[in-house]
Amino acid sequence: MEERIPDVIDVHTPSPARMYDYWLGGKDNFAADREAAEKVIAAHPEQRRLVRANRDFLVRAVRFLADQGIEQFLDLGTGIPTSPNVHEVAREVQPAARVVYVDNDPIVFAHNQAFRATDDRIATVQADVRRPSEILGDPAVKRLLDFDRPVGLLAIAVLHFVPEGEAVMATLREALPPGSFVALSTGTYEGLTPEQRERIENAYAKASAPAVIRSRAEIERLFAGFDLVEPGLVHVAKWRADGPETRGRLLAGVGSLKPAD
Ligand SMILES: C[S@@+](CC[C@H](N)C(=O)[O-])C[C@H]1O[C@@H](n2cnc3c(N)ncnc32)[C@H](O)[C@@H]1O
Repeated sequence: MEERIPDVIDVHTPSPARMYDYWLGGKDNFAADREAAEKVIAAHPEQRRLVRANRDFLVRAVRFLADQGIEQFLDLGTGIPTSPNVHEVAREVQPAARVVYVDNDPIVFAHNQAFRATDDRIATVQADVRRPSEILGDPAVKRLLDFDRPVGLLAIAVLHFVPEGEAVMATLREALPPGSFVALSTGTYEGLTPEQRERIENAYAKASAPAVIRSRAEIERLFAGFDLVEPGLVHVAKWRADGPETRGRLLAGVGSLKPAD
């Protein structure tokens, strides 16, 4: 089994993508991932429910964007494919929807390339969200996304691995044409005890990307230049739904790009 794992995959360092896959019940994870993921569950027993609620938010948000006429999506920190994927949800409303999937984890890239082989309206890019200019300049992004028409930017459960989130969002926002939207969820320490927060941060400490847990005010700043649509910034389970809240939270919102002055 081991010899079939490509060299570029480090099975000994926990990977956020594979920890997330483990919580969702997937099979693309290794012992180091499961150990770190279980440490998060020990600190926050509702973690699996929270992750499922986040995935459900992704589905509702993509559907909402597609209902607003969005037919091209840039999905940052896309994760290991999990049904339904962004293109599947978007195409229920916009059958010709185009999606660029971006992730820095080689295992995600390998999985997503399988889509590209069969669908020329999907591209997958291995890139780091911390370097947004490289993403905007990537040939696949330029080929598939038309930045003269509205774009749906997805930053779902990824910015808690990106300390420089505000600067990243500012660069991307400047590239977005009028009519564009962002859908974003990210971890907050609101609701957590200081001890839970510390245990979660420790569980990620040895991972390939440490966790960056934010206050509500810090998350609001990630939406600078966007108007939050109803119901604003809420627990992922509460965005246009009425799921049960969990103690540890991902706050979620969808913003429409503010018109230029
Ligand atoms: C928790 S998963 C979220 C997956 C999906 N967006 C969702 O919400 O269901 C976070 C993903 O972000 C990716 N990621 C973390 N830091 C990143 C970075 N700096 N650049 C690109 N991707 C990153 C991880 O590899 C992982 O696949």
